[in-house]
Amino acid sequence: MLKVGVLASGRGSNLEALLKQCANKKIAAQVVVVISDKAEAKALAKADEYNVPAFFIDPKVYSSKTEYNRALISKLKNFKVDLVVLAGYMRILDPLFIEAFPGKVINIHPSLLPAFPGLNAQGQALTGGVKYSGCTVHFVDEGMDTGPIIAQAVVPVLPEDTVEVLAQRILAEEHILLPKVVNWIAQGRVKLKGRQVVINI
Ligand code: GRF
Repeated sequence: MLKVGVLASGRGSNLEALLKQCANKKIAAQVVVVISDKAEAKALAKADEYNVPAFFIDPKVYSSKTEYNRALISKLKNFKVDLVVLAGYMRILDPLFIEAFPGKVINIHPSLLPAFPGLNAQGQALTGGVKYSGCTVHFVDEGMDTGPIIAQAVVPVLPEDTVEVLAQRILAEEHILLPKVVNWIAQGRVKLKGRQVVINI
C-alpha cells in the first residue's frame, strides 16, 4: 500500500476525492498524513472526517523558508510517506524538499500545462481565448508548475463561461485525474525518463 502525504492550503476537494477513493479501496494507496500552512484550511477538517492525522504547520514560526521546509520534511518522514501530493498547496517548495523526496512529489494544476502556470489558471485561460483547457498532474521540480507532465484531462471552454463555471468544469476532471495518477504510481506504472513520463498501461 502506497503511503501518501498531502499538502493543502485550502478547500481540500482534491484531498477529499483522494480520501474517498482510498476509503472505497478503489486505489492501492492510503493517505497517512495531511499538512496545511493555513490553520483555517478546510482540508484539515476533511482529513479529520476520514480519521487521517492532520497538522497545521505555521510558516510564521520558522526563521526561514528552509527551516519551514525542514519541518515539513520531518513530519512527512515520521509518517514514512512514499509519495507527496500537493493538492492546492499555495507555496513554492524549497529545493531541499524536492531533494528529500526525489521523483516522489506531484501536483495538480487547473490548466493544460505548460499553458497558464501560476495563479488563476482558469482566468488566464479565459483571457487567453483558448477553446480547450483542463488540468494537469505533474512531478514537482524547483519551478512553478514546470515539472514533467504525468497526465492531463481536457475540457471545452465555452463562450458564456465565467471563471467560476470553467473552474468547476475543470475541478470535476481534477477529482478523477488525481486519484487515477496516484493509483498508477501505487501500481508502479509511472516511470520518469528525463522530462518524459512513461505510463505502462
Ligand atoms: C485546484 O484547482 C488545484 O488544481 C489547484 O488548487 C485548487 C485546489 O482546490 N492547485 P481544492 O483545495 O483541492 O478544492
